[in-house]
Amino acid sequence: MRRLDQLLSALGYCSRREAMAFVKEGRVKLGGVVVKRSDQRVDSALITVDDEPLEAPDGLLAMLYKPVGYSCTHSEEEGQNIYELLPAHWPDRNPAVTSVGRLDKDTSGLLLVTDIGSLVHRYTSPKSDIEKTYLVEVDRELDPTLIDIFAKGDLMLRSEEKPCLPAKLEIVSSQSARLTITEGRYHQVRRMFASQGWRVENLHRERFGPYVLGDLAEGEWQMLSLEQVAR
Ligand code: URA
Repeated sequence: MRRLDQLLSALGYCSRREAMAFVKEGRVKLGGVVVKRSDQRVDSALITVDDEPLEAPDGLLAMLYKPVGYSCTHSEEEGQNIYELLPAHWPDRNPAVTSVGRLDKDTSGLLLVTDIGSLVHRYTSPKSDIEKTYLVEVDRELDPTLIDIFAKGDLMLRSEEKPCLPAKLEIVSSQSARLTITEGRYHQVRRMFASQGWRVENLHRERFGPYVLGDLAEGEWQMLSLEQVAR
């Protein structure tokens, strides 16, 4: 049970002070009955604001289909950023909603966003073995020898101390392939191809662990269930 004003401000609805106004205006109900005090302790599952249940009171997990040209930063200095594509109050939640790792500005595809710190940690930890699959388009014909080179687990990238873990390459056409990696090093896919003399021209993440984009349109997001997510 949490104080109502703390709960509403943590979920990005309003400040604690504004919560008083919400309550005065009769916008907040507990089990269908208008709440009278903003300092009352409440069960978040029973609260409605404007007759809508609270949004993700136990933590938020969503996936975004990131278009090319958006950076994964809160800073507005780097042009368009992914937070412009998400509800404006999400960064006001406490903890704030952030992306799970990053995709380059020039990369499109599946990006998870969450306010659950333990999830960010688990999904981005170097020990995490979550598979991420990328569709890669390169500047010239692919060579099947790349399959073994990426699979071996001894590929060293410049200025790194450890080789990349084994990665699975599936050639789709002469200049496109699917690459599945379990790590998330800086510019990893581009650097893996660059190390062998190929330039990645288009990069798109199709899958992150169990999640795929499905019917989601570019620039859109979709809430994900927390049921299968161990915290
Ligand atoms: N690898 C890259 O090079 N860029 C991305 O955005 C993701 C993986």
